[in-house]
Amino acid sequence: MINQKNVQLGRVRSAIRELFEYGKKRKAQIGEENVFDFSLGNPSVPAPAEVKEELERLVCTSDPVFLHGYTSAQGDYSVRKAIADDLNARFGAGLNADCLYMTCGAAASLCITLNALVVQGDEVITFAPFFPEYSVFAAHAGAKLVPVQSDPVTFQPDLAAFEGALGARTKAVIINSPNNPSGVVYTEQTIKALADIIARHEQRTGNAVYLVSDEPYRELVFDSATKVPFITNFCARSIVCYSYSKSLSLPGERIGYIAVNPAMQEFEEVYAGICGAGRSLGYVCAPNLFQQLVKAVTGKTSDISVYKTNRDLLCSALTDYGYTVVRPDGAFYLFVKALEEDAQKFADRAKEYELLLVPSDSFGVKGYVRISYCVDTDMIKRSLPAFLKLAESYRK
Ligand SMILES: Cc1ncc(COP(=O)(O)O)c(C=O)c1O
Repeated sequence: MINQKNVQLGRVRSAIRELFEYGKKRKAQIGEENVFDFSLGNPSVPAPAEVKEELERLVCTSDPVFLHGYTSAQGDYSVRKAIADDLNARFGAGLNADCLYMTCGAAASLCITLNALVVQGDEVITFAPFFPEYSVFAAHAGAKLVPVQSDPVTFQPDLAAFEGALGARTKAVIINSPNNPSGVVYTEQTIKALADIIARHEQRTGNAVYLVSDEPYRELVFDSATKVPFITNFCARSIVCYSYSKSLSLPGERIGYIAVNPAMQEFEEVYAGICGAGRSLGYVCAPNLFQQLVKAVTGKTSDISVYKTNRDLLCSALTDYGYTVVRPDGAFYLFVKALEEDAQKFADRAKEYELLLVPSDSFGVKGYVRISYCVDTDMIKRSLPAFLKLAESYRK
């Protein structure tokens, strides 16, 4: 018999994928333009022009044996140095090339990090709503995921609940800001408070707790006044899990990195653990073509103005129609309160109006739906009458 846990995992689709597959079938039945598919977080804007230019330059001018060859297991040194230099220039991050480990996107970054840190039976805290795959990643590493609720209005973490959830087996805390699915950006005050609570817990118990920041949306903020605090500046035991999937619109290319804060006392051990976990999971030598590409375009981001347009359009229309929305400062998701208690039933009713909305249950929160607005603005405009009819159906 083979591993039934994995068989089960492979058979069951995520709620998001399920809805996306339904959308594909529905579009074939009634026409693409008649289905309002807000299910997936697939960037709808192209990668910046520099990506194509640099890819062409790399392919046409580099030694193919180098370009398509293995790099060091943790990634090409010059790539890691360019990324560390960029993060230091932008955030005063205090990193160097030897703190970085190149990966295949944020999912790989998280799996490697959790496998490096966790001992069977440990707990990993995160804040609901959270990216559903955290449960899968934590379980595979041998940890129990402990969700802590957020403030029901601001969707910043509930600090008192967090303090109460820290226990003898807590090994790590995953934060995700800008957040999928709420779009909320954690303030500097929140990050400082989380770091203080962790420090107090460590002093009390003598146990190390690592703050893991899952940041695929770091650059996706709509207002220059909104700052995404860089966690190495606030917490010595911090690890950044980054991906270029959203910031450069390259989700299919699978490229990202892990940055381990060198300020932590046991840095050498933790970085060795990252290398060992990468090795045992088979995540070594991230694709070199895209390592070289991200080195050439460090600091660049896709044009995210369309996401801001979409956010403004949806927030204002949905509020007018009587919906309660969590106004997002970043990412490309809108969290909307369902018009009945059961989010699944609300999402099912939305389907009758060809609106594909993801119920919040799989994000660890009840009573909301997620709208991914990384879609054509035209589709949003066409969908608005359906949102209005859906709201009216609850007023009848
Ligand atoms: C919060 C969050 N973390 C991690 C991931 C995985 O990112 P990647 O595609 O880079 O593996 C996603 C993808 O949507 C995400 O939303």
